[in-house]
Amino acid sequence: MPLNDEIDALKRELTGKLAGAADATAVKGLGADALGRKGRVRELFARLGALPAEERGAAGAALNALKPWVEDQVNARLAALGAAPGAVARDRAFDVSLPGRAPARGRYHLIYETQQAICEAFARLGFSTAYGPEIETPYYNFAALNIPIDHPSADSFDTFYTAEKTHLLRSHTSPVQVHVMEGQKPPIRVVVPGKVFRPDDVDARHMNMFFQVEGLLVDEDVSFADLKGVLHIFARQFFGDDVRMRFRPSFFPFTEPSAEVDISCIFCGGKGCNVCGTSGWLEILGSGMVHPKVLAGVGIDPEVYTGFAFGMGVERVAMLQHRVNDIRLFTENHYRFLRQF
Ligand code: PHE
Repeated sequence: MPLNDEIDALKRELTGKLAGAADATAVKGLGADALGRKGRVRELFARLGALPAEERGAAGAALNALKPWVEDQVNARLAALGAAPGAVARDRAFDVSLPGRAPARGRYHLIYETQQAICEAFARLGFSTAYGPEIETPYYNFAALNIPIDHPSADSFDTFYTAEKTHLLRSHTSPVQVHVMEGQKPPIRVVVPGKVFRPDDVDARHMNMFFQVEGLLVDEDVSFADLKGVLHIFARQFFGDDVRMRFRPSFFPFTEPSAEVDISCIFCGGKGCNVCGTSGWLEILGSGMVHPKVLAGVGIDPEVYTGFAFGMGVERVAMLQHRVNDIRLFTENHYRFLRQF
């Protein structure tokens, strides 16, 4: 077929197809088919060289006019469909000159970072890091820690069991004290970060799953004064040099004596506010001297060795440091909340 006839045929065909194209995508597709790298217009250009020299000029001009003709037809059809007259894709399916989309940069979760920072603060005092299982046997979660399972003191630690009650999700990181002491002789100095589980009612301060960092130090001649000194250094590093601490007598079956530790309220400086409930103090951890029965249970002679232990809630520390007023925010995965830190 002579080139001119072929141009006419292409025009007729395209006009028909464009009229039948129902949406902008179909219209642009037809334009790309005609003008693209493997398109009909290219094909016709390729045939120019085979023409006798005297016909070439006219044929070339006709072909050159074909490109804008196709573009006009496509844009006219787009306009008729109510779509914006776009540039007809030719050799490329996308515009490489457009700026790219920046990928969002990832980072650690605030709770993980706080946990790492706590462990690092104790690492500077010579504590190494140990880990233990999140699924425990009642022996490690209770008995080895001198917690009588039927006693009211076990209530707050009573947690999620497997059907046969042979295993449970640990309710604190204290069982790892036992694992560590079973595997290592004193001197022992470890911190244990990890997930724990409690059947508490969920509210602004309680979750069924949260994180703790446990601390354990066992050696000769360890006294309560050592516990106070270590915790005070930690509190100053974390909450500033002006922070004050107080130890309140408390009870844990696995420590004797036991103390709950408060820091002076970092919001009001101890004057009393709605965060500390006018007391001026905020509780941050439980602690005490390792109970002789716990030491004896793992074969460490309580006549020779003494030790202290403590356990703190990571969310609690993060909430105080960053003034977060609801613990549930940490696990709701709202990007705008998380990226602030
Ligand atoms: N395991 C205790 C709790 O979860 C905290 C604690 C740890 C207390 C170590 C004393 C010593 O509440």
